[in-house]
Amino acid sequence: MRTLFVTGGAGFIGSALVRMLMADSDWRIVNIDKLTYAGNLESLAELTDNTSHIFSRSDICDRSAMDSLFHEHRPSGVIHLAAESHVDRSIHGPGDFIETNISGTYTLLEAARTYWSGLDTAERTAFRFHHVSTDEVFGSLGETGLFVETSTYQPNSPYSASKAASDHLVRAWHHTYGLPTLITNCSNNYGPCQFPEKLIPLMIHNAVSDKPLPIYGKGDNVRDWLYVDDHARALRLVFEQGVIGETYNIGGHNEKTNLEVVDTLCALLDQLKPRSDGRSYGAQKITVADRPGHDKRYAIDATKIERELGWTPEESFESGLMKTVRWYLNNSAWIAHVVSGEYRQWMDRNYGDRT
Ligand code: NAD
Ligand code: TYD
Repeated sequence: MRTLFVTGGAGFIGSALVRMLMADSDWRIVNIDKLTYAGNLESLAELTDNTSHIFSRSDICDRSAMDSLFHEHRPSGVIHLAAESHVDRSIHGPGDFIETNISGTYTLLEAARTYWSGLDTAERTAFRFHHVSTDEVFGSLGETGLFVETSTYQPNSPYSASKAASDHLVRAWHHTYGLPTLITNCSNNYGPCQFPEKLIPLMIHNAVSDKPLPIYGKGDNVRDWLYVDDHARALRLVFEQGVIGETYNIGGHNEKTNLEVVDTLCALLDQLKPRSDGRSYGAQKITVADRPGHDKRYAIDATKIERELGWTPEESFESGLMKTVRWYLNNSAWIAHVVSGEYRQWMDRNYGDRT
């Protein structure tokens, strides 16, 4: 059984990837996660007793911890998702973003390079370091155009600048040292187990909690939405079949303004869980001050991964959003534990000896 390192596997996308790989592959996974506020092992509750899933509460900035993990588990590859990921938090406090996204990626690259250098020829050739990144590194689009793999890097927020820096480090470690790397840049994800600070889970949670639905500025900023399981399938495909040294854009051809997203969510909630007073959840929308430096529009051209690796998204925006809303309505305990902070106690109870 071959071993794969997944960093950030207790987060939103990492946990979806780990659940998918554990259900449908032979990988033994070492899940490396610091469990920041965004890490939640309750998202991996189904794997608590699965011995092919090994959880290590570790910080990617800790070089000796990373060296020990490589030495102990001897992985065939790494899929690196661990990051600080929320733009608004990066505006209020960029320090953790610089530390984890830049220094942490550097530390992980160096630990991986040291380990990889000591492998025999066949193992060195088979090894892969897959860095998971965002389309936000390309900056903001105007009314037209799409991001392609060769688009110029023009990051605008502390988050996207830190992710851009990490992309450049990964590229340099391939170019200079020959480390076999892959990079993917994906558009906005949504789906189950997303921390309710991001647009879609925040709106669902606030709507059913009778709280305001805060729209930044005019609500006309555009994001290109992808269902998280489609992203996880793309990551697996790139990791297993992508060409070393290449980058791949991943996106779902689902451009929507923020207002369109919120209105669609309100319509779904009106249908699935009508308000007791008979009014639409749309009545809870409020306009709030715009985000500083708010990127106007993101949109991905995913032709390369479609053409070269045969990936296409399975979910439309409508089907993915319906699944997502149903998941949040049916998993009120997950979100209640996150909002109350009780997920920390759940982790201590179920993973206490491992975290
Ligand atoms: P998330 O915030 O939900 O999860 C991040 C995980 O990383 C958490 O479990 C956290 O505990 C862990 N982590 C943070 N700092 C760490 C450290 N120093 N050491 C070890 N673990 C640490 O993020 P997400 O939305 O799942 O995003 C995962 C990756 O995908 C990120 O690299 C992000 O930049 C990228 N990405 C996200 C999106 C999106 O829409 N969410 C889109 C494209 C790319
Ligand atoms: P977000 O989910 O934070 O993702 P990102 O900033 O990485 O694209 O935000 C998505 C869009 O929704 C973005 O244009 C900001 C907007 N937004 C709101 O209007 N209100 C909110 O409460 C949040 C969290 C985001």
